[in-house]
Amino acid sequence: MMNTTHQSSALPFKQHCIEPDCGSNFDLKEAIYVCRRCGGLLDIEATASPQNTASELQSLWRDRLTSTDDRDRSGVWRFREVLPFAPQIDPVSLKEGNTPLYTAHRSAAYCELESLYLKHQGANPTGSFKDTGMTVAVTQARILGARLVACASTGNTAASLAAYAARADLSCAIIVPAGQVSHAKLAQALDYGAKVLEIDGNFDSCMREIRELSEDGFLYMVNSINPFRIEGQKTVAFELAEQLGWRTPDHLVVPGGNLGNSSAFGKGFRELFKLGLIDRMPRISVIQAAGAAPFARYFQQHKNASADFIDEPNPRTLASAIKIGAPVSWKKALRAVAETQGEVLTVTEQEIADAKAIIGRDGIGCEPASATTVAGIKKMKADGTITVNESVVAVLTGHVLKDTDYVNKYHTNSLAAEDKSRIVSTYGNAPIRVSGGLEELRRVIAELAG
Ligand code: F0G
Repeated sequence: MMNTTHQSSALPFKQHCIEPDCGSNFDLKEAIYVCRRCGGLLDIEATASPQNTASELQSLWRDRLTSTDDRDRSGVWRFREVLPFAPQIDPVSLKEGNTPLYTAHRSAAYCELESLYLKHQGANPTGSFKDTGMTVAVTQARILGARLVACASTGNTAASLAAYAARADLSCAIIVPAGQVSHAKLAQALDYGAKVLEIDGNFDSCMREIRELSEDGFLYMVNSINPFRIEGQKTVAFELAEQLGWRTPDHLVVPGGNLGNSSAFGKGFRELFKLGLIDRMPRISVIQAAGAAPFARYFQQHKNASADFIDEPNPRTLASAIKIGAPVSWKKALRAVAETQGEVLTVTEQEIADAKAIIGRDGIGCEPASATTVAGIKKMKADGTITVNESVVAVLTGHVLKDTDYVNKYHTNSLAAEDKSRIVSTYGNAPIRVSGGLEELRRVIAELAG
């Protein structure tokens, strides 16, 4: 059992229910995931302003880039002034964060934009953005005295948690939908020593089961409903703002699955603005796969959290990372989109596959879920939401090697959607079989050389 003694944390942070007519507060040491009074989502909120001015914080964080302190080598813990931990924290870290912000001229041209930035979260230690949240959630697990950390996952959370649990010497259980997780992600979790529990059903079933189990007190749940995950992921907004010289991009575009990441960007940019580190927030837009788009549907009908959320009972997409029909953080994501005048839209399987191939041609690459962003940006440019010379950042959430089966099928013209409809290999690049010996190789090479 977890040590949930209610000694209070002396830190200037609290867990706060986001429901306007509740707003209950809880100590950081309480191992809870939702409000104990009303079941609402929790935010971690600072109860005092940092001691430093905005420009002091900027120089402090910049100077840490050349420091050899382990915490400063992490792109998350480098921003520890805005994290709910004591300054002398010894985090469970794999030197996550500090990921590249690329310009990408082919992707920009594809979207008919002058330029486009790709923030590649796939460059994290386990190949996805989950690491920035997991370092914080597993550090908190250790503080709470948890023995067993657990999550439900479409694969990346699993891979990430497995790695951080191994670093922290904690037992780790992962609940995944049998047969629906990419082999690469599963392989990571197995290699890092997690116990992988495959169940019938989809991700939403896994999420329901783990939420139920978390009430028994045997495990510490680190899905993004856990507000400590969001704290880690919000630092990506800080890193991005710093990379852009503390200028806010006009648009930030993220894929939407369980909606933790869009929530985290909303929180990060909100805090940057409140701290005076930036002078406005970007428009935050969320892109979903058309077959797994309950949030987009909700947003088209209601622009605020005034109505009940209708889950998608049978989500379908080859972008398996975001094959989610009951996103737990929809209210937080809606807040981020609404307060920044962002959009929520859907893209088809074909649009995802083609955008992914174009990102690859920029020498960058990503997994299918990440490519929803570029596909969405192309649509938003076409409908006038984005204009040609605005600054736009797409967040690539996972590495191209996360799902090579998909990549190989696309390039060999054998990719089919779940309803069996064929996806056209518009930008296919199949291997060329050369069986005629050196002479034929010479001919092919000469042709390639032009
Ligand atoms: N992109 C990738 C590569 C993901 O793995 C996920 C979520 C998302 C986007 C969506 O982010 O859920 O915060 O809206 N993957 C989770 C998992 C669900 O279990 O790995 P979100």
